[in-house]
Amino acid sequence: MHKFADMASRPRSGIIGTGFMGAVHARAVRGAGGTVAAVAGSSFAKAQAAAGTFAAERAAESAMDVVLAPDIDIVHICTPNHLHAEVAAVAIAAGKHVICEKPLTTTTADSLQLAQAAAAAGVLTAVPFAYRYYGPVREARAQVAAGRLGRLRLVHGQYLQDWLASPEDTNWRVDPVQGGASRAFADIGVHWCDLVEYVTGERIAALTARLGLAEPMRRTPSGAVADRGNEDIAVLLLTMQSGAVGTLTVSQVSLGRANRLSFSLDGSDRALAFDQESAELLWIGRRDGIEILPRGSASTLVAAQRYDAVPAGHPQGYQDCFTALMRDVYARLDGDDIDGLPDFQDGLRAAHLTDAVLESHQSGSWVEVGI
Ligand SMILES: NC(=O)c1ccc[n+]([C@@H]2O[C@H](COP(=O)([O-])OP(=O)(O)OC[C@H]3O[C@@H](n4cnc5c(N)ncnc54)[C@H](O)[C@@H]3O)[C@@H](O)[C@H]2O)c1
Repeated sequence: MHKFADMASRPRSGIIGTGFMGAVHARAVRGAGGTVAAVAGSSFAKAQAAAGTFAAERAAESAMDVVLAPDIDIVHICTPNHLHAEVAAVAIAAGKHVICEKPLTTTTADSLQLAQAAAAAGVLTAVPFAYRYYGPVREARAQVAAGRLGRLRLVHGQYLQDWLASPEDTNWRVDPVQGGASRAFADIGVHWCDLVEYVTGERIAALTARLGLAEPMRRTPSGAVADRGNEDIAVLLLTMQSGAVGTLTVSQVSLGRANRLSFSLDGSDRALAFDQESAELLWIGRRDGIEILPRGSASTLVAAQRYDAVPAGHPQGYQDCFTALMRDVYARLDGDDIDGLPDFQDGLRAAHLTDAVLESHQSGSWVEVGI
């Protein structure tokens, strides 16, 4: 049994970042039975305000104040992408477990260094590819593993958002220094790739990608108009290890698509499809018709049931995925053999995929994806 800083052996979390993800992590920690011991933001005033809404025990002066605090067991990094690497490295060196948001870092070299350092230190790591925690996604993985799909022939899907559709829409992500050289793919496309590789149990072997700038003159958060930025759109052709072929469309400028992450795996015996905006359902296509399998149905395979927090017919959602991920973090720390907790190796994998996408766009060629 892992011994935590708290006398009652409950893991104590320190959250760095007070925005969207900081709040999601705080709710997940509390929902899974942990304690939000401290929160740090870009200023102490922001940390103080967040300490209230996150139900944190204290506001911290800075990220390093959280990372080095002796009473923190798990460091959550929920800041803009370019700030992940240094904080994660110091946290690992301090012997902390680290949950770092995706993309793990803005360079593959940094992601590799972190994955190696964490393995050498023996600390637990996680990168919240949290869509793995929908019950129907686990059901799809179980059905593929049980051979129900037959031979995988075709993978296709999309990850579409619209929150950056206007030239006036901006965020730190549009600045390549803060967000990274790739935006739409590294920000959301990697979620789709992680999901498809996790569900199929095989990797994307090679891809060719083209990137699009819908708004070449996009405004940066500081108000300046930048004449170049990272991509709004990515389109990919891909081949899986088995030889199955596929397509992926990624966009953050597709009007009306708030968060449409969907995939279809078309096999020789059946097809399986999942759409994050209808996340309670797994669509099954067969020669004799279709079946819609709701989460919690009696006919689901055992593997999916761990992720049923409430009975069938009571919808679960995005936040529940993060809470389930935190439960698995605690279970892993308790020594349980947990399947599917995405870690720094998965973050490194996403960095390799991002490199391949950028390289392919530059060269106009197919690129084999590094392992
Ligand atoms: N896993 C997912 O599904 C998912 C979803 C959204 C975002 N993310 C990732 O989470 C991270 C944060 O994204 P977000 O949407 O919450 O962004 P956000 O802009 O809402 O929040 C970022 C926060 O970081 C804080 N911050 C900035 N500099 C800081 C510093 N030096 N020290 C401490 N805090 C600082 C800001 O004040 C802000 O509160 C990104 O890496 C993003 O890619 C992951």
